[in-house]
Amino acid sequence: MPTTIRPAISSDIPALIDISASVNPWKVACSLPGAEPDKIAQPIDVTSKTALYEKWIAVTEWDEKKSRIFVAEVDGTVLGWMLVAAGCPGYFEVMDVKQIYVANITVHRAHGGQGIGDAMVSWLKTEAKRLDTEIIRAECAKGRLERWYNKNGFLSVPYRGTAAGYPNDVHTMLEMHTNVFKDA
Ligand SMILES: CC(C)(COP(=O)(O)OP(=O)(O)OC[C@H]1O[C@@H](n2cnc3c(N)ncnc32)[C@H](O)[C@@H]1OP(=O)(O)O)[C@@H](O)C(=O)NCCC(=O)NCCS
Repeated sequence: MPTTIRPAISSDIPALIDISASVNPWKVACSLPGAEPDKIAQPIDVTSKTALYEKWIAVTEWDEKKSRIFVAEVDGTVLGWMLVAAGCPGYFEVMDVKQIYVANITVHRAHGGQGIGDAMVSWLKTEAKRLDTEIIRAECAKGRLERWYNKNGFLSVPYRGTAAGYPNDVHTMLEMHTNVFKDA
């Protein structure tokens, strides 16, 4: 089934909340990094989540400081979302080049492993090429998730920013360079 990537709109918010809510129980069940067992039983604060998503939805152009949110839709159902910006967080190494930063990418756990995450990265490569971007940056927990990013064209690189105490033992910085998406 083809996956369509498009900017999120307000009516997507229940699906966005649902997708996010599907992740923690899975992380807990699999003992993954960042799992929060205490939060499983907590009700979702729909009001504050809605405000957050609305803030991202309101950003409709690429911006160095503001993140935008896109959804992955399969057969009319929103099953994934990603949060991206044209600049990176202050604790990243400064790079004076056009860049895209992936702040989050999430697929509904009932649909993990179906290529929906890959489709979002693939779309991002095409967008990066269109924007004459030189690098796509991200960071993640080392291990299985890192291998997924690597499979999708990201290189694991050492942390070179200025934050003292960056958790190099458990986290890695990720970079995808133009040579990977020049033919996208
Ligand atoms: C990352 C993601 C979008 C990829 O979606 P996908 O293309 O459908 O791929 P999968 O769900 O099969 O995940 C790919 C691999 O990453 C692993 N993985 C995904 N999220 C992970 C996490 N937070 N921590 C550790 N491993 C994770 C999966 O277990 C899988 O590993 P495997 O191939 O060894 O089984 C999706 O797994 C997801 O939503 N993860 C939870 C949210 C998240 O952690 N996002 C990344 C933020 S940096």
